[in-house]
Amino acid sequence: MNEKRVKFGAIGASNMGLLHIEAIARSPKMELMAVCDKDPARLEIARERVLCPSFYTDWRDVLKNPEVEAVVLCVPDGLHLEMTEAALAAGKDVLCEKPMALTLEECEAMRAAEKKYGGRLMIGQICRYTPAFIKTKELIQRGEIGELFYVESEYAHDYSIARGADDWRVDPRREPYIGGGCHAVDLLRWIAGDPYEITAYSNHKCLTDWPVNDCTVSILRFPGDVLGKVFVSIGCKRNYTMRSVFYGTKGTIICDNTGTHITVFKEGLKEKDPLFTGKRDYTIPVQYPVSISNHNTFGELENFAESILQDAPVPTTSFDGECTVAVCVAAAESARLGKAIEIQYPKEEL
Ligand SMILES: NC(=O)c1ccc[n+]([C@@H]2O[C@H](COP(=O)([O-])OP(=O)(O)OC[C@H]3O[C@@H](n4cnc5c(N)ncnc54)[C@H](O)[C@@H]3O)[C@@H](O)[C@H]2O)c1
Repeated sequence: MNEKRVKFGAIGASNMGLLHIEAIARSPKMELMAVCDKDPARLEIARERVLCPSFYTDWRDVLKNPEVEAVVLCVPDGLHLEMTEAALAAGKDVLCEKPMALTLEECEAMRAAEKKYGGRLMIGQICRYTPAFIKTKELIQRGEIGELFYVESEYAHDYSIARGADDWRVDPRREPYIGGGCHAVDLLRWIAGDPYEITAYSNHKCLTDWPVNDCTVSILRFPGDVLGKVFVSIGCKRNYTMRSVFYGTKGTIICDNTGTHITVFKEGLKEKDPLFTGKRDYTIPVQYPVSISNHNTFGELENFAESILQDAPVPTTSFDGECTVAVCVAAAESARLGKAIEIQYPKEEL
């Protein structure tokens, strides 16, 4: 079979870039046409990993390549706007890494470019492709734990060894709640809807040489009287985790992007069991095995390619990406001002 493949160019070939490049190279839906990194040493590593006709150190060369139909941007957050605008202007579809951008103004400009040039813009909210979270959402939608009343997620990741190429993460504009916390926020939005109010508190005790607070705890209010919490730490001393808990009226789900299973607690046999004395807990924990794939770039890219091949909307739109940033910006503002903030979402139509 000689099915049509989407021809990709990748800009940024380091941590996330290599994951994307390798995923494109092994997918029957995609073809890798160009790889770019401004750092020749990183480009060399990519060259050893994948077969590809063109390697560039100038990202504009990827956009000039007529063979490239779509680009994936795996570069520092502060470059997302400039590269997205230029790629859309060059007629390419774009998959841009999260967070969409560091400010709502930048997000708006990206959406305006999408509208102006008519290309597709997808934001890489990878938690929507994490097997544990997909299973969790499916169980909740099926009513397995009843009606949600409290949801929580966290982004706990020690950045002391993850400063990024040229230390790009050590940036006063890059609030950890936006840069990393956007994962936890997006996960809760995906499952519990759009929160309307947030109260956050931050401190700065771990990465004391960084220009930003390294820990934030926030309380959120979701539609339907659902309460929520997001915890973000970029200085914690532990392995990366996004442990998340979904409490429903008939059960509870504990899940993680780095665990081998999710645990579902279901209401037990209390009423039916004649021996029930009130002293034993009949709540039944069930463990569902899940594959650990906390960076499922393959699934994400295949969905993006599919939407191009089918001429269909992308699964995680730029509007969604901006809504997630809107919550994160409100969290940072709440922590700064010391008060609850009503979250201001963008208008869907620009
Ligand atoms: N989805 C996720 O789970 C996840 C995880 C980590 C990072 N990210 C996001 O992915 C993006 C990249 O993060 P990373 O961890 O791969 O960063 P990184 O620092 O490891 O890599 C960035 C690469 O971009 C290259 N680069 C910088 N400026 C460039 C330019 N002008 N032209 C060409 N190449 C350039 C650098 O040389 C470097 O190789 C960021 O937006 C980050 O927030 C997402």
